[in-house]
Amino acid sequence: MKLLCIGSGYVGLVSGTCFADLGNEVVCLDIDEKKIESLSRGIIPIYEPGLKELVDRNIKLGRLRFTSDSEKAIREADIIFICVGTPPKPNGEADMSFTYAAAENIGRFMGSYKIIANKSTVPVGTAEKVRKIISEELRKGKKNIEFDVVSNPEFLREGAAVKDFQNPDRIIIGVSSDKARDILARLYKPISRADKPIVFTTEKNAELIKYASNAMLATRISFMNELSQLCEEMGADIKAIARGMALDTRIGPRFLQAGCGYGGSCFPKDVKALGQMLEQHGLTSNLMRTVDYINERQKRSLVPKLKKFLPKLDGKIIAIWGLSFKPRTDDIRESPALTVIDQLLKEDAQVRAYDPEATENAKQLFKKGVFFANNSYEALEGADALIILTEWDEFREPDFARMKKLMKQHIILDGRNIYEPADIEKLGFNYKGVGR
Ligand SMILES: NC(=O)c1ccc[n+]([C@@H]2O[C@H](COP(=O)([O-])OP(=O)(O)OC[C@H]3O[C@@H](n4cnc5c(N)ncnc54)[C@H](O)[C@@H]3O)[C@@H](O)[C@H]2O)c1
Repeated sequence: MKLLCIGSGYVGLVSGTCFADLGNEVVCLDIDEKKIESLSRGIIPIYEPGLKELVDRNIKLGRLRFTSDSEKAIREADIIFICVGTPPKPNGEADMSFTYAAAENIGRFMGSYKIIANKSTVPVGTAEKVRKIISEELRKGKKNIEFDVVSNPEFLREGAAVKDFQNPDRIIIGVSSDKARDILARLYKPISRADKPIVFTTEKNAELIKYASNAMLATRISFMNELSQLCEEMGADIKAIARGMALDTRIGPRFLQAGCGYGGSCFPKDVKALGQMLEQHGLTSNLMRTVDYINERQKRSLVPKLKKFLPKLDGKIIAIWGLSFKPRTDDIRESPALTVIDQLLKEDAQVRAYDPEATENAKQLFKKGVFFANNSYEALEGADALIILTEWDEFREPDFARMKKLMKQHIILDGRNIYEPADIEKLGFNYKGVGR
């Protein structure tokens, strides 16, 4: 099938590439011409395990192309996936301007039947709105063309995006036309399995399933983070609590890790947007507001903890390990590291930061005040303390003797609980994790 992904970011690029790998003819479109130019030369603007090989292979086989020519790309496609950003507005509501702009272009340029699938995370009612925008453009252009709009939210996780796309837990399709339903069932057949089904539902349900899923995961994290504070007050260990809870099959082990808060481009904005949706319908949204509040508090809780060891941070050298919001991605959007570094800089501390993949993105944000190290040990030179903010594998088994030699004071604040307190203290470090 001929597919078009409008928006070539984390979702559009990964989805488009994986669809191409299944044998479809895919075009990825973006308004960012620099991005398209790099992609056309095989330069991938994001770090995502396995993606580069897949892009290279499919470009070579002629199944994957990149363009910023909307008109041609829209005309040629059978199915158009809208994969543009839906960032939060200051009040938390999703900014739909990119989605609506894409819908306008579709209506303006289409010349034959299309399926338009919303893959971006969009508020309930968006499929309807997109349908209206396209109809209006068709009317203006005096065109009478059939089309279907479906809701097909994406659940891939950064850091495992290719794997998730190729082997999803479920595929959710909100659709009201039999024709579109049959075509999408055919498109997704190679990756749907008996235990990983395609769930067909209404457009509104599909839109809400996406928000509900992210908000539920964020709620679990905030629940554990709230408990972690109680553990610290009472001398309990959040890891032991989590394990005891996880063995209950009704609860399970996933998303029970306390830490320095969730980040990324999805959880923070989707929690806020769901809260806004509730309020717009006259319903109070205390739960979503609290989930968000606990997360912000958790992100801000590390520096006060550090000050228990180092009451004056002025002039102190603080090493940071991890800038991305989670391992195996270079994405720093809403990363706890941004909050922590801001706090440290406000206290006039000197920051030496290291991340295996996210350094270039962080350099764009922190033009001065932060030294970016080339490896984890360089970040520790002369450091008064180390704060771990992302659980990259390479931080799990470091050379502690070397660390001790490099650091001026031996303080470790472990925002991801990757070490066992007793082990680290035995090595002569002052150690503090989260909730233990
Ligand atoms: N990142 C994730 O892990 C993830 C997972 C599931 C769902 N989502 C959702 O998918 C959507 C996209 O997220 P993302 O992380 O890929 O965003 P992104 O910011 O990485 O990419 C969006 C891209 O769309 C482009 N764009 C904007 N308007 C355009 C237009 N009119 N025409 C063509 N291109 C346009 C931008 O230039 C950008 O490259 C969001 O709604 C997000 O919530 C993201």
